[in-house]
Amino acid sequence: MERAVARIDHDAVRANCARLKAELAGAELCAVVKADGYGHGADGCASAALDGGATRLAVATAGEAEQIGRRFQHVPLLTMGALTAEEVDVVISAGSELAVWREDFRRLVADRARSHGHKARVHVKYDSGMGRLGNSDPEEVLALARACAEDPDLELAGVWTHFATADEFDSSYFDEQLGRFEEVAAAVKAERPGVAVHAANSAAVLRDKRSHFDMARCGVAIYGLDPFQRDPADHDLRPVLSLRSHVADVKRFPAGASAGYGRRWKAPVDTWVGVVPLGYGDGVRRALTNNADVLVRGRRHPLVGTVSMDNLTLDLGPETEVEPGDEAVLIGRQGEEEILAEEVARRLETINYEVTCAISPRVPRRSR
Ligand SMILES: Cc1ncc(COP(=O)(O)O)c(C=O)c1O
Repeated sequence: MERAVARIDHDAVRANCARLKAELAGAELCAVVKADGYGHGADGCASAALDGGATRLAVATAGEAEQIGRRFQHVPLLTMGALTAEEVDVVISAGSELAVWREDFRRLVADRARSHGHKARVHVKYDSGMGRLGNSDPEEVLALARACAEDPDLELAGVWTHFATADEFDSSYFDEQLGRFEEVAAAVKAERPGVAVHAANSAAVLRDKRSHFDMARCGVAIYGLDPFQRDPADHDLRPVLSLRSHVADVKRFPAGASAGYGRRWKAPVDTWVGVVPLGYGDGVRRALTNNADVLVRGRRHPLVGTVSMDNLTLDLGPETEVEPGDEAVLIGRQGEEEILAEEVARRLETINYEVTCAISPRVPRRSR
């Protein structure tokens, strides 16, 4: 028995990728494994995603490019984030492709590629409305793409964009962004048909085939998380991660006795309280204080009292069969009951991405 473990179902990653690949028809699937695979463990999930039909990988940072590039040397890798000059060297050494959206940065990448003795493969980023990374002037994007294609030290591998509202019910802004990107993509293809144009994240893949282009960059869905924050089963996606611990102690609480820092919960009647050795040091957010359920013996039990760094407490009720050593599930299935990351996210008024990314390195990730 372990104090805490995140069980990672790599078969589910494979199945989710196969599901997305079927949706994509001809377009390539690029598995996004940044932030340690959204907290699921990047190496194992990347491997499973490739088994499931992904043909490319993407990360955000130079450190991630180094880790993934070393492990998957023959798989095309894109580093999507902004990079410092030093990080450009790291990313090129890792064999990764890079994002470019400014002429001065394009020249820097060309210069660094020359010193490495081989071409750098670049993807020119169009900010079609995300308002974050990328160049928002379509003419400049096309000029930059030409400059990359004509530079002896660069290879123009792609032109791309990212949606701001693919996961929202209203499609008007999504359609606007798509329309803008379609024009740029058509101009790129007219000049250079071999250059990959790409835009879709998980939500876009599932909502609109027009967004698929040559490749989709999917993260959240490959981990079996619902990009629309409802239920992954709505899209035939299988949750990949479960967060498990155990009941370390079971104690009798007379009415009025309190659990945890600040006495934020007091037993309303005589009851049993279970202590679970897991807390915000593991990424179980303190805002779940008096605001979550935990599964023990296939039943939901309310988390009561303040979540501390290493412990949390459950109200097991006036009569209980729960014993020390019983498994406690914070995210995942136990018997007929299931707590989805989406439920935890709703309670925290955030998104499932943040829930799994928050699980700290103190919790070992183990393949199930
Ligand atoms: C540029 C870019 N593309 C693709 C993705 C994958 O998005 P999702 O996890 O929603 O599929 C991300 C993730 O945030 C991203 O930043």
